[in-house]
Amino acid sequence: MIDFLLNGQPRQSEASPDTSVLELLRETLGRTGTKEGCASGDCGACTVAIGEAGPDGRVRYHSANACITPAHQLHGRHLVTVEGLAEGERLHPAQAAMVECHGSQCGFCTPGIVMSLFTLHESRHGGGKEPPAPLTPQRLEAALGGNLCRCTGYRPIRDAALTMGEHPDRRPRWLDAAPPRPAAPVDALFAQPTTLAELLELYRRHPEARLVAGATDLWLETTQRLERFGRLIDVTRVDALGIIEEATLADGTPGWWIGAAVTYSRLEPLLEEHHEAFAHLLHRLGSAQVRNRGTLGGNIANASPIGDTPPVLLALGSRLWLAGPEGERELPLDHFFLDYKQTALRRGEVIRAIFLPRPEPGRHLRVWKLSKRREDDISAVLGAFSWKLEKGVLREVRLGFGGMAATPGRAMAAEAALEGQAPTPSAFQAARLALGRDFQPMSDVRGSAHYRRLSAANLLERLRLVIAQQQANSDREVMLHAYAH
Ligand code: FES
Ligand code: FES
Repeated sequence: MIDFLLNGQPRQSEASPDTSVLELLRETLGRTGTKEGCASGDCGACTVAIGEAGPDGRVRYHSANACITPAHQLHGRHLVTVEGLAEGERLHPAQAAMVECHGSQCGFCTPGIVMSLFTLHESRHGGGKEPPAPLTPQRLEAALGGNLCRCTGYRPIRDAALTMGEHPDRRPRWLDAAPPRPAAPVDALFAQPTTLAELLELYRRHPEARLVAGATDLWLETTQRLERFGRLIDVTRVDALGIIEEATLADGTPGWWIGAAVTYSRLEPLLEEHHEAFAHLLHRLGSAQVRNRGTLGGNIANASPIGDTPPVLLALGSRLWLAGPEGERELPLDHFFLDYKQTALRRGEVIRAIFLPRPEPGRHLRVWKLSKRREDDISAVLGAFSWKLEKGVLREVRLGFGGMAATPGRAMAAEAALEGQAPTPSAFQAARLALGRDFQPMSDVRGSAHYRRLSAANLLERLRLVIAQQQANSDREVMLHAYAH
C-alpha cells in the first residue's frame, strides 16, 4: 500500500511494483494534466514535484520525471501536480507568469514547464525564512534544461521564469503539510529497507531482485523495452547509503565517503566547493529532474560504458566501500568494471559508499564531455584528466575515458607515455598514438568508432594546450614577482 499526499489530500494506492508515478496519475487516478511525451526522462512533459520533510520538519520539493519514477517511492511523500497549483481562478505565480508572457502555444509541454517553474519558485520563496537566492542565468537554465518545447520558443518561457516572482504569492498553504510517516516495507515486491542490515538480509534472501535508487536508467527497461520487473529493492531510504562524511583512508588520503544513494543534486554543493571541474560536468549530466533523483552509486553500479561520473572518479583515484553477506571491503574503482555491464560485485553485495578524494595541492583536474546536445544528453565520449606538474615534468597522470570501450576505463598506455615527461607536443603525440592501444571503440547512434578515436585524441591535444597555458601563466607570475622585487 502506498500512502502519500496528492496536492494536499491523503491518498492510498495498491499499484503494482512496476507502476510509474505517471501511470498512477493518468490511468488510476484520472489526473491527466501531467503529460507523457517520451516516457524516458528526456522531454520533461511529465514533470511533477515531490516533497519530503527534512530533518527540520520543513517540506522541500524537487522536480521529477513522473514517467520514470516508481509510484512506490511516493510512500510517505507529497506529490504535487499541475492540477493542484491554482485555487479556483487564483493562479500560482508560475502559471500567471506563463499566461502573461504567452509562454504556451500547443500547450503539451506547458504542465511540465509550469511544474519546473513551480519547484524553482518553491526553492526561492517556499516555506523557509531566508531571503530568496538570486535567480542567475545558470540557475534558470539548470531549472528548465530538462523541459523541451517544440512550438513556443524559449524566450517567453524564460521571461515567465524571470517575472513570476513579481506576481502575488498565491502559494497553496497545504504545500507545507507534512506527508504521512512512512512505514516500510510497503510491498513484498517493492521492499523499502531503512537500514543496511535489512537491505543485506533482503538481498541475501532474494539475490534475483533488482536494486533501485533514482530509477533514471532502470525504469527505461519497462517504458522502452516493455519488460516487467520481478522483485525490486529500493535503496533510497537506507540511512547508511545517504551519508556525506569527511574521512581519511588508511593510506592517509583525505576526502569524503559519499553514500551510494546520494543524489547528484545533494552532491552538487560539495563538488562546487572542492572539485569545480566535476561540478561543471554535473551541470551537464541529465536535467534537474534527473539530477534530483539519479545517484552516484547507481551511475557506478550500472556499469554503463557511457556513465558520466566513472571516468572522473577513475581520474581522481576513487575507492568503493562494498558491503555484502561476507562482510565489508574496500576496492579501488579501477578494479570494479570487469566487462560490459559486468562488475566485481559479488552475490548479495552492494555499493555502500564512494570515496571522493579531497583535491591535493598541485593536482589538476579537467573534465570534457562530448555530446550532441549541451544539456540533458548522453556522452559520446567523455575524458577526465588528472595530473601534477613538478619541475616541468608530468607526474601521477590519470586519464579516465567513457564511451571508448565496453566499460569506463583508464588509458594506461597513454598515461605511461606522459608520465615523467615534459608536456611537449612530441610527448602528447606519443600519448595520442598510445590511445589506439588502450581502446578500440565501437560505432553506435552517438558516434562512429572513427569519431570517438579522433575526439579522444583531440581531447588529449586540448589537455596539452591547457597545460601549456598554465605554464605560460605561471612563468608570467614568476616574472612579475621578479620585477616587483
Ligand atoms: Fe518525457 Fe517523462 S514523458 S520526460
Ligand atoms: Fe507546444 Fe511547448 S507549447 S510544445
